[in-house]
Amino acid sequence: MKLSDFPKGEILVSPSLLAADFGKLNEQIAEVTAAGAEMLHLDVMDGALVPNISFGAPVIKPLRKNSSLFFDVHLMIEHPLRYARMFREAGADLETFHIECADDIDATIAAIHGLGAQVGISMKPATPAEAVFPYLDKIDMVLVMTVEPGFGGQSFMAHQMPKVAAFRKEIDRRGLDVRLQVDGGVDENTVKECAAYGADIMVAGTAVFRHPEGMATAVARLKSAKELFGSKVQ
Ligand code: DX5
Ligand code: ZN
Repeated sequence: MKLSDFPKGEILVSPSLLAADFGKLNEQIAEVTAAGAEMLHLDVMDGALVPNISFGAPVIKPLRKNSSLFFDVHLMIEHPLRYARMFREAGADLETFHIECADDIDATIAAIHGLGAQVGISMKPATPAEAVFPYLDKIDMVLVMTVEPGFGGQSFMAHQMPKVAAFRKEIDRRGLDVRLQVDGGVDENTVKECAAYGADIMVAGTAVFRHPEGMATAVARLKSAKELFGSKVQ
């Protein structure tokens, strides 16, 4: 599966499994699939690039057998190049790594593409968009963090919106087929800002898996931000 399989102009929803009940992952994934999500966001943390440890390839692999969702793997790890193959073999459709990692960026992009997966680059809130601009025409997605990576359930950083707009403008100016994802504190309210500033893939953990009115309502509300798309990008 490729990002280009999804219709252009749609807001895609990628629920973060970090907020699911880890005691029944397959059931939770079935529920979020029925709710209309296109993707599953899988947060891999190594306790080095970020101050927390989550799960790795051995957890992802059995989930792949039971799901046909697009697997959007967010590698918050120091050495994505070293582990690119492991996550591809576990079922990643897309591997997003951090520009702050210790590995060579071009080599990491080439390795992931060479494995047949798509490539995303993410950055922490303090890292400017310009750090990623040199790689934009070589990748498939940009991920702007709207919290400090490491934990689910944090508050949305609205001050990251100019960065989202900067990417939207640069992607459109160059005419690139690059999707723009936001991650952290995205819910039915903050999603409006994200869409207005030009993001088109919304990662949401708490706001989907723990929505009081259920996952289908959560996904539908996130998608309804479509009508605001790009309205704040000058
Ligand atoms: C944070 C992760 C996020 C997180 C989002 O480091 O990258 O994907 O799970 O969780 P919420 O949506 O609860 O902020
Ligand atoms: Zn994430």
